[in-house]
Amino acid sequence: MRRRDLVARRLYCQIVPMALGLTFLLGGCEGPTQAPPSKEVQAGAGAQSQPPPPPSNPKIKEIMARVGGPGPQSLQNSLVAAVKAEQPAWEEIQGGAKEYARLAAEMGGLEPIKGSSASWKELTKAFADSTADLDKAALAKEKDKVGETLAKLGGSCMGCHRQHRIMAPPGGRAASPGG
Ligand code: HEC
Repeated sequence: MRRRDLVARRLYCQIVPMALGLTFLLGGCEGPTQAPPSKEVQAGAGAQSQPPPPPSNPKIKEIMARVGGPGPQSLQNSLVAAVKAEQPAWEEIQGGAKEYARLAAEMGGLEPIKGSSASWKELTKAFADSTADLDKAALAKEKDKVGETLAKLGGSCMGCHRQHRIMAPPGGRAASPGG
């Protein structure tokens, strides 16, 4: 019985495709199943060896990258820019403020890799409270209040980072021992 299967398989995998010249169309036969991975783009890929990243809580990192990452697309930067407009796009601002408040509220439930839990509790609460104010002000379309709250938020970053964030050493080089 198995023999018959084998014969059938042979027929299917070898003879049929040979006859048809269509080997490449038949799956399930032996042979390369995957194209070899194409070479990574080499030019401009930043081939220099990077120092290892500092210790991190990936969940906090993800929230932070969205809230305050570099560039105009971060929530903090985009909201600061958006509320300056003569005719602010309130729907966008409200959407951003709501997301900001939701993310900030999640921070308190996460564990920073550094610093005391009392400090973390206090700073994440202040962050969540300010973003809740921001959310309210955005819903009420209070331009000045939105601007003020964003400025307050922008002034709170460093205080928390000093306590709870391990930064990559400047220049990417670890301090040499015995200095
Ligand atoms: C309540 C504390 C707290 C506040 C407030 C805070 N951060 Fe952070 N932030 C952190 C911690 C902790 C990390 C490190 C996360 C990790 O473990 O990788 C971090 C990391 C970052 C990073 C690095 C993200 C990455 O991809 O590695 C950026 C950028 C950042 N914060 C921007 C901001 C900006 C901008 C503000 C203010 C608008 C802010 N943060 C406010 C706690 C805070």
